Amino acid sequence: MMFPEYRPRRLRRTESLRALVRENILTPEHLIYPLFVVEGTGIQKDIEAMPGCAQMSVDKIVDEVKMLSDTGVSAIILFGIPEHKDERGSEAWSAKGVVQKAIAAIKKAVPSMLVVTDVCMCEYTSHGHCGILHKGDVDNDATLESLAKIALSHARAGADMVAPSDMMDGRVAAIREALDENDFSNTPIMSYAVKYASSFYGPFREAAECAPQFGDRRAYQMDPANQREALREAALDVEEGADILMVKPAMPYLDIICLLKQEFTLPIAAYQVSGEYSLIKAAAARGWIDERRVVEESLLSIKRAGADIIITYFAKDFAKNYYGNRTA
Ligand code: PBG
Repeated sequence: MMFPEYRPRRLRRTESLRALVRENILTPEHLIYPLFVVEGTGIQKDIEAMPGCAQMSVDKIVDEVKMLSDTGVSAIILFGIPEHKDERGSEAWSAKGVVQKAIAAIKKAVPSMLVVTDVCMCEYTSHGHCGILHKGDVDNDATLESLAKIALSHARAGADMVAPSDMMDGRVAAIREALDENDFSNTPIMSYAVKYASSFYGPFREAAECAPQFGDRRAYQMDPANQREALREAALDVEEGADILMVKPAMPYLDIICLLKQEFTLPIAAYQVSGEYSLIKAAAARGWIDERRVVEESLLSIKRAGADIIITYFAKDFAKNYYGNRTA
């Protein structure tokens, strides 16, 4: 017998062989594209640290969503940047708030687009923290009430799914209760269950104008050093009624995605955050990497780790390339 007996290269010889045995496939249907909405009309303001992304007014967002839908993007997540911020972030649950207006306009123009909303207060508070302050700290239980009001206002405006990203204890239960009591028992909650206090959010804070004015978020977001704690966070959200568990960021936390996939049966989402996007964009702009291949490989790594759903600023480009490939 010839050595070696088994030759793994046999199944790598041609693209059709490789495709036949490929374990993971990316499709645009599993991606969610983030959008930033601002007050006004005709506004499209590029975000410097996130080339290709912009803050847009409702009219521009509607045009963008029509284009996204034609491109093959089927889900978006909305972040709102209000004109006025205050200590208690009260514009966050206003029926006339910028996100609420955007949801209604998008659902009217493109009913098939799945509209997810980020439920948090940091874009709406003058201090930039994700909740209501008490003696310099975010008051967990006081914040829950506001989060429930925000989620409900999004559902009333027509959101298909709400995604709390604040990391307060008990928020999933509080939101579930508010939705159920108001006839939104069919609105799913995608919980940012395992969200780390990450420096990879840097560019997003420019995009959403939500950098904390003092201190940081380490008193509520998770310590990047911890893995076992992720299981406790996820288990709590399952008990409280979450429908989808999210890990954030994605690529630096593939071990966490993998762990959650093994331990829980709910769908797992992962958020490839702003810093992950900007790093790739910056290197590609210098010609140091092949952007398209690196993007696909990065998304594939997140999928392979166990993510069923990926939130990514590359969703639009990926969908364009993907369907481009199909028809080619
Ligand atoms: C709001 C929120 C943040 C992100 C999503 N929702 C910022 C933060 O927690 O500081 C980050 C997204 C990204 O970096 O792409 N709490």
